[in-house]
Order: sequence, then C-alpha cells, then structure tokens
Amino acid sequence: MTITPAPEHRPLLSVAPHARGKRSPVTCRLKCADACSHPVPNESANETFRDVVAGAMSRRALLGGLAVGAAAVVLGAQTVGAPPAAAQPLPAHGGGHGGGRPQKGLAFGAISPQPAARDAFVVPEGYRWRPVIRWGDPILRGAQPFDVARQTPEAQARQFGYNNDYLDILPFERQHALAGAQGRGKGPGRGTRGLLVANHEYTNPAIMFDASYDAATRRAIERAAHGMSVVEVRRRRTGTPWDYVADSRYNRRVHMTTEFRLTGPVAGSDLVKTVADPSGTRVLGTLNNCAGGTTPWGTVLSGEENYNGYFRTSGAGHDARYGLRDAATGYGWELDDPRFDARNPGYENEPNRFGWIVEIDPYAPDEPPVKHTALGRFKHEGANVILSRRGNAVAYMGDDERFDYVYKFVSSRTMRPGNSEAARRHNKTLLTEGSLYVARFRGDSPAAEIDGSGAVPSDGAFDGRGEWVPLVLDGRSEVEGMSLEEVLVYTRVAADKVGATKMDRPEDVEPNPVTGRVYVACTNNTSRGPAAAEAATEPNPRNTNRDGHVVEIVEDRDDAASLTFRWNLLLVAGDPATNTSTYFSGYPKEKVSPISCPDNLAFDAEGNLWISTDGQPSTIQKCDGLFKVTLDGRERGRVEQFLSVPRGAETCGPLVDSTDRMVYVAVQHPGEDGSFDAQASYFPDYLTPGAPVPTGAFAGPRPSVVQVWRD
Ligand code: FEO
Ligand code: CA
Ligand code: CA
Repeated sequence: MTITPAPEHRPLLSVAPHARGKRSPVTCRLKCADACSHPVPNESANETFRDVVAGAMSRRALLGGLAVGAAAVVLGAQTVGAPPAAAQPLPAHGGGHGGGRPQKGLAFGAISPQPAARDAFVVPEGYRWRPVIRWGDPILRGAQPFDVARQTPEAQARQFGYNNDYLDILPFERQHALAGAQGRGKGPGRGTRGLLVANHEYTNPAIMFDASYDAATRRAIERAAHGMSVVEVRRRRTGTPWDYVADSRYNRRVHMTTEFRLTGPVAGSDLVKTVADPSGTRVLGTLNNCAGGTTPWGTVLSGEENYNGYFRTSGAGHDARYGLRDAATGYGWELDDPRFDARNPGYENEPNRFGWIVEIDPYAPDEPPVKHTALGRFKHEGANVILSRRGNAVAYMGDDERFDYVYKFVSSRTMRPGNSEAARRHNKTLLTEGSLYVARFRGDSPAAEIDGSGAVPSDGAFDGRGEWVPLVLDGRSEVEGMSLEEVLVYTRVAADKVGATKMDRPEDVEPNPVTGRVYVACTNNTSRGPAAAEAATEPNPRNTNRDGHVVEIVEDRDDAASLTFRWNLLLVAGDPATNTSTYFSGYPKEKVSPISCPDNLAFDAEGNLWISTDGQPSTIQKCDGLFKVTLDGRERGRVEQFLSVPRGAETCGPLVDSTDRMVYVAVQHPGEDGSFDAQASYFPDYLTPGAPVPTGAFAGPRPSVVQVWRD
C-alpha cells in the first residue's frame, strides 16, 4: 500500500493578486457550450405569472382555504418565515469568532469575503487545510506520476481527472454508508478508512498543456481527464486529515472509454441505437458530470449536464431545446471519433445516450456503472435521494438551464433494508422503474406585488403551494402525443407540454436528511425580465437575477412521495450592502455574509444547510466560497462564510462532517482564465513560477479535493 501525503497549509497563504474580470470565454465555451450567449432554449408558452395567480386562486377555492396566506407557515413544530427576534451582530465581515455564542454543530467565526483577484484558499481561524488529491495524482496500479510536460492519454486514464465537482467520502465499511446516508447526511464518519468519489466535469486545455502537445494528443488526454474517480483514503485517527491510497483495489477511473449499461424504459429503444451499439444498451463514457448524490443504499449518482457541448448535430428535431446545433464544438472531438458528429450516418442517436443520471457502486470496483433512463434526460445537475414514508426512493433533480425545471422521480418499489448482497442487488434496481414528475410552483401573492425588484410582497414572504405534475406514472406516459420512450429522451419537451414552472437555473435540489425539507439552489438568470422569455414570478421574484436564490419545499404530510407541497424562498442572494433586493428569511441583512450564485448544497448532522457558490467574482466581486445557513429558530436565514476558494475557482461538492469536525470541498477551475505561460492561480501547491519545480509538481493550478479540519 502506498499512502501519498500532500503538503499542508495554514490559512491565508497567497500570492500577489492579479486583476480579474468575469469567467473566461474559454471556460464558458468548455463548461456549458456558451449557454448564456445563445437564445434561451425554452421557447414554450408555459404559464405566465397571471396563470400562476389564477391557478393559485382556483386551487385555493378548491382546497377550501387551505392555501397559505400569512407570513408564518407552521410545519409541525417548525415555524418558517416568521420574523426572527433580534439577534447578535455577526462580528463584521472582518473575521470574527462567532461572538462567543453557543453554535449548533461546527463552531467557527465567519471569514471575510475575499476579493475576486485573491489566489488563496482561506479558512476560519483555528482551522487548517490540505489537499486530499489533485488533478494528475496517480491512483491506479502502475500509474505514472503527474508530469505536466509529459502527459499521455494512458497516463491520465490512471490518474485523478480534471475539474472535480461532486464529492463524497463513503465509510469504508459499507454498512456504515447505509446508516449514514439515511440518518445524518454524507461523509466518512469517524472511521479511518474511506472511499472518496468525485466527478470530473470538464477540461481547460489552455492552462493544462504547454505548446509542445499536438491537438489530437491533447484532446485524447482531455477525454481521459473527464468522468469520475473512486479513491481509497486513510488516516491515523478520527479528526485528523486523510491521505489517499495510491494502489487500493477500490481505486477506479471512469472516462470516455468506460462501458456503461443503460437501464430502464429507454434501454434497447430505437432512440438510443447506433451503428456501434445496435442493441441500444451499452454506452461508452459519461460527459460533463456535474453534481451528484449519495443514495441511502450506499452508491453514488452523478449528473450528465452540458453534454450538448461535445456533439455536432444536424440541429433538427428537438436539438435546439437541448442546445445541440450544427456547429463545430469547443472540444473538437468530432475530429477524432465519428460518434461526436451526429450528422454521420448511424450516429444520429449518439447524443441521446448522454444527459442521464449515472449510478456507480464504489464498493463493487468490477461492476459496470449504469445510466438510468427512468429519471429522464436533460442537463442534469445532480440527483439526491431520500426515502418516502413507504420506503420508495425519491430522487430530486434540477435541470440547470435558464427557465428550466425541477423534477422528482419516485421508484415503484421500496428499498430493502440491510447490507446483504440480495438487498444491495435489489436496491440498485430501484432507479430503473417508477414515476417521473415536474414541479409547478404557485405563488399566493397578487401579481402586482411581484414587480421584479425583489421587494417582499405584503404577506411577508415569497411563498405558496405547488404540485408535482406527472410525466410518467408507473412506467406509462402521462403526456399526450408522446410515448414513454419519447418522454424520457425528450423530457424537456414533455415538461413544456404540462406547464412546468420556469425556474432560474435550478442546480442542486437536495432533501435535508434531518428534516426532510427540500432545498433548490437557483443559481441565477440574468435573462429573466419583461422583454425576455418570462418576467418575475413569486418563486423567481427578480428580473435580471444575477445573484440567485434558494427555494425551500415542504412536502405535504412530510412525505417525499407527496404530489403537493408548500414552498417559500429561504433566501434571495446578493451583497446586502449594495443590493436592496436581498432577503434572508427576515434575518437582519447587516449581519449576514454576502453570498451570490448558490450552486451546490449539503447538510451537516445538525441539519444546517451549507451552500457552495459559483460565480461570485462576476456578481459581487468576491471569490466563491462555502457558507453555512441556519434553518431553524431565531437565527433562520443567518449566512456565515466558512471558506473561500482561490482566484477563478468555483466551490463544488461540499461535504460537512460536523461529527468529525471536518469539511471537504472540490475546488474546480482555479485560475480558469489564465494561459499555460501566464497562469492565474498557483493553487494548491503555490510553487513560484520560474523557480525549480520538484518532480510531479506544477507551477500552475491543479483542481483538487481539499480537507479542512479543526486544528
Ligand atoms: Fe455544472 Fe450546473 O453546474
Ligand atoms: Ca407570498
Ligand atoms: Ca454546479
């Protein structure tokens, strides 16, 4: 066994700041195929705000006044939306120590927001940080050490991939994974062995390769740097940092030549057959794996998100609804492999084989991963599963596109408890069969009060009721004119037809394992407005929404399988010092850390929400970070910044194991707008450019999984 330690860091390491603007055009092109500079793909004439209110009124009449009318919504013992009592001030944004008040869970003093140009990983006083694993670290037997000047596709396929996004560390003993996922949130717990699982969403050749690489080799290395990794980690004792095990038999790389099995109703359908796979059941590779989720049965789900950016197509049929077009791609893989050009005879359906939720069992290193077609095809951010009262697996999902939708899947069968092989086999089939719904949100305030400014309506809350509209019920299409297979392959089109609610880029949709309430991170939508596809609605109450918001959903009867729910906005993000349209559930605005562009969500063992952000440099001119949000009691809506990631980076995959006082994040695209010869970040090793560089090191950014622990 080889354990590979990484250098350790104390807070506030930095290099000289550089000027920084918005995300680089290169990254926009590679990460999401310039989604924001193309027309909004959703041109459907879904309900307008007028319809929402009319619907709310008729529904209210229907329910005989059951609808929520006042500021306070009583949820069992919890009160949501009630104005909090006066709270203690957050000790400025200058990095205090929590004001000496007792805190639930992990204790820390909020850090100061860091200027966008700062190339530093910043943690609270009393905490330390260290990477667990970095891009290029060797993880499979026989892998070569990372050498930025001599990478090959074969080497990269045995090393940790690029741009890590989703992250979890599962307990090594899988019975603990089962207990953890059902009771207290994610994380390795207090053990000393774990299985780290990470996604590798995309690559950035401009900062990965020097000029010596030819284009075809570069592209082949990029294909090997996409996908997923499973890596065993070990540590001496609970509460201390982890090292990764370089040659564990559990270590695994999934990339563009890894074979996946399609499951569910679309497996074997004509819509997914190609000349290379006439059976329509086997797909090579997974693309643009963004966020994910860990299931209650101890497997990991991963969302195939902006897969459209890898394919050239004819642009016909439903292509435009998915952002597929007849144009050269940013990646250029169509130059290497005919399947990436769907205009080629026999490959027309290749793009239909991406855009799914993927499941991998980290405890079964020899088992092929699968793509679950029953969960629909769209730009999947991720999927997070909780059990219904009966024990069905309920997966909540967001389609990360301006004006796209929130979905949930409810399995037909229930989870079998226990850790036997038979139980595990059964549970791994749960996502193959069930019902698929899309969310319709109805506001309860008059249209005139939702004016797009973010002003809170007179009832004191952005809130209302909602329903899960069926697209598929127990394996039958519920959408007129579309077969079951069509609903699942062209899910966006099906959801348009049933009048789903257009949301502001729903990213993570995640149930709180402690309370069962569900949170939707709507990251932003600058296209919302009177002159665009749709103006403000109560669940998306700002026009030109640069900073995003978070929706809280409370399923009726506290049952994840419910078809109706109540909802309210937990927070409307931004820097309250400069932006009057922010809202923090009534918590005093002057006492919160500024926050913008919520993306990934996590919960600690105490049920607090943790939010990681993607985009703060271009909105509030701060580096992205990780924030704790108190959900209950007098401090509901209190936002406290825990860490800040380096220049250009997005904070992904947060994992907060408060029982062990450990926090983990995946630092994605540090220094994204640099070039190989003029790097914009030196994270995480902070080697000096021009100085002698040790073997295996690199004076430039390496996307990494970072652990933060209490010193
Ligand atoms: Fe890959 Fe929706 O972020
Ligand atoms: Ca309202
Ligand atoms: Ca994301």
